[in-house]
Amino acid sequence: MRKTAPVTLGLIAVGLMLTACSPDATQDTLQPVGDVAKQQKALFVPVFWVAVGVFVVVQGGILYIALRYRHRKGRERMPRQTHGNTRLEVGWTILPAVVLAGVMVPTVSLIWDLARPPSADALNITVEGYQWWWGFEYSDDDMVTEWDRPITIADTMVVPTGREIYLSLEATGGGAMDANGDPDFQVIHSFWVPQLFGTQDVMPGQTNHILFSVDTPGTYTGQCKEFCGLQHGRMKLEVVALAPAEWEAWVEGQKTLAPSPTDPLAQQGEELFLNPLSDGRGACTACHAVGDGGGAAAPNLTHFADPTHTCFAGCNWSTTDRDALEAWLENPGAVKLGAKMPDYGLEPDEIDALVAYLYSLT
Ligand code: CUA
Repeated sequence: MRKTAPVTLGLIAVGLMLTACSPDATQDTLQPVGDVAKQQKALFVPVFWVAVGVFVVVQGGILYIALRYRHRKGRERMPRQTHGNTRLEVGWTILPAVVLAGVMVPTVSLIWDLARPPSADALNITVEGYQWWWGFEYSDDDMVTEWDRPITIADTMVVPTGREIYLSLEATGGGAMDANGDPDFQVIHSFWVPQLFGTQDVMPGQTNHILFSVDTPGTYTGQCKEFCGLQHGRMKLEVVALAPAEWEAWVEGQKTLAPSPTDPLAQQGEELFLNPLSDGRGACTACHAVGDGGGAAAPNLTHFADPTHTCFAGCNWSTTDRDALEAWLENPGAVKLGAKMPDYGLEPDEIDALVAYLYSLT
């Protein structure tokens, strides 16, 4: 037992370490795709090697002394007892202080640099943390839609490459109130897209910021990194970075409504969506908006089927996954326990119509 324990523990440790070796890991801070993420990596790598050096020297010393001066058979006398060694004490106080001071210089200067104000042409986006999904509102003057609202999307954040992006992080919980009239669903989240920037807390009553940019067009995954309730683990997002020309086209598309559906089933879905459901079951527009109609407590669905809107419901399911979408509409709480979207008791034919309508919102 005593001999197999270290081997077992060692195997478990190696097994855990190997889980970090996924060849297609999408959330890798060591593969930065923007200048901020690159600056953060450029600080992390040297600090990591300094820490490795300290580890080797300290652990090496402990191992050397433990082995060299270990108890052996026949040596029964106690070694000479010493107390205090001024030269050693001074040495191992000063040396760590010097190492820490050395690490502090680039660390503090990067902290200051990352807190710099955004440039004048930076793109401003307000990131809103909800339970449990992310909303994005484009707050610049030139990002207003035909119906006089800022461009607002959910689950995927679409940005241009090669431009500074300034995020304002907020957590108002969708403005919902509890039975006592107090703000509800206001919890702390943390916003994180590992390849683009380090984490930043998203807090009720305070606006935090992230400044970043993206070099290469692509899709980058991220997630909430602060426990925020039942479905914290399913509070994900994707950042879709577009080259400038595609970005301009996307912005223009977002400012206008998708063409009204011509397919009868989708038209039926539109009717269901825009009006209260029969038998007092509630209304989709109580929380969701398409264009200027509807609430803001749930994802804005104006361009639900836009190719850049790759995922839904906290970015856990692909938007093109019809089965997942149907299951979600049938009973959100069964798919994502604790989801704030109520089960409206939709019938299969209503679900078919609503799915057809959602897929018409290109
Ligand atoms: Cu939001 Cu964890």
